[in-house]
Amino acid sequence: MDENLSRVRRADCRIVGIAVSLRSESFNLKLIRAAAMSAPHRVRMHVYKGLARLPLFNEDIEAAAFSEGPVQELIAVVAAADALLIATPEYNHSIPGVLKNAIDWLSRPLAGGALVGKRVGIVGATTGRWGTRLAQSALRQTLFAADAVVVPGPAVYLANAQTAFDADGSLLDDEARSALRQILQALAGRSRSARIEADDAERLLSHA
Ligand SMILES: Cc1cc2nc3c(=O)[nH]c(=O)nc-3n(C[C@H](O)[C@H](O)[C@H](O)COP(=O)(O)O)c2cc1C
Repeated sequence: MDENLSRVRRADCRIVGIAVSLRSESFNLKLIRAAAMSAPHRVRMHVYKGLARLPLFNEDIEAAAFSEGPVQELIAVVAAADALLIATPEYNHSIPGVLKNAIDWLSRPLAGGALVGKRVGIVGATTGRWGTRLAQSALRQTLFAADAVVVPGPAVYLANAQTAFDADGSLLDDEARSALRQILQALAGRSRSARIEADDAERLLSHA
């Protein structure tokens, strides 16, 4: 096998986890931590915790916001990731404003297409009975507008989250833990394929 291709295949996959809650005892943060604990071989997870620092999106401050500070940091973190895993609560049948705000920043031309083609996994935890189905559906729609690629599943709709973790924050449900691992595997597989395609395209162009 071509050494370059083999290097791309062997490379670690960097997945950024985003827990969409500013609450210190957030169940969605626990869900992201549970995913990190069950990450497959050669998947490295980094947790992004900057949502609270982002200014509200405003076209008047775009140029300044993209040149330094929390918006620039968000773009850099997302651009450097092979894939994202977003754990969202449901607020009033949709996603929390802090997540919509982050996606609005990421979707702008000055963000350099940080979300374009980015593989994204969506999961969610709620204290309610329906497991964030509506929020996850709303998030799919928003990410579609931003040209990201959402992996189809398996679904993690964590209902009654107040009973889903033990005192140490470990996720009790084996099926949910296994589903998290499968999502990370899907993200790693798809982002590796995307890297191989990009690498092939680069080599074709360099020989043209
Ligand atoms: C403003 C607000 C609206 C909410 N709306 C819903 C809702 O529509 N559906 C639902 O299942 N839970 C709803 N909840 C409950 C949250 O999903 C629950 O508090 C969840 O644990 C928050 O996530 P976190 O633990 O990660 O902070 C709402 C909570 C808040 C604060």
